[in-house]
Amino acid sequence: MANVKLNIIYYSSTGTNYQLAQWAAEGAKEIGAEVKILKVPELAPAAAIESNPAWKAHVEATKDVPEVTLDDLVEADALIFSIPTRYGNMPGQMKQFLDTTGGLWFQGKLANKVVSAMSSAGNPHGGQEATILNFYTMMYHWGAIIAAPGYTDQVTFTAGGNPYGTSVTTGQDGMKEDVKDAVKHQAKRTVTVAGWVKQGL
Ligand SMILES: Cc1cc2nc3c(=O)[nH]c(=O)nc-3n(C[C@H](O)[C@H](O)[C@H](O)COP(=O)(O)O)c2cc1C
Repeated sequence: MANVKLNIIYYSSTGTNYQLAQWAAEGAKEIGAEVKILKVPELAPAAAIESNPAWKAHVEATKDVPEVTLDDLVEADALIFSIPTRYGNMPGQMKQFLDTTGGLWFQGKLANKVVSAMSSAGNPHGGQEATILNFYTMMYHWGAIIAAPGYTDQVTFTAGGNPYGTSVTTGQDGMKEDVKDAVKHQAKRTVTVAGWVKQGL
């Protein structure tokens, strides 16, 4: 699927959603998409980050990942967002970034973006589905076209069966489900749908 520009935008404190973003990039590149991984700015106070060794290590490990800008939204045909749950919702860091998009929305520059989302939580039923669905509510206001994975491939079943977007349970020992193939499938599907939309526009 040549010529599709996919920007993968994530927030992560301890690395899970960065890993999901990397797998999504891998999948999208396999079908020829032009891909960038971008993080939203961290807003937490330094003292909070310092107090959590895993968070501190992740911030250090990803210091060279570029921060997303509004231009990264405009240029993209497709956007994948990866976000940990915060009580069933997106983290404030992502919300703050999205709350700066009012001007673009007003100009219609976010309409018809093909969007898909992924999530993680500390518990198997800790709010992954709610987080993705709540996230999509905002995307409908943009006029985005949601490319959820549904059950379009067997890999969704083995990854836990979330049709809204790939999600994972994460803890101190890392991810509890094997979701890599589901993430890659979701990314390929998002790029494919974006290719169809691009051809039709
Ligand atoms: C403020 C806060 C709220 C959270 N709320 C939930 C929750 O409601 N349910 C849950 O299972 N995990 C919850 N978590 C755990 C995170 O979702 C988990 O650490 C995250 O998915 C790990 O992703 P990351 O490694 O990309 O940061 C919460 C964590 C924080 C810091």
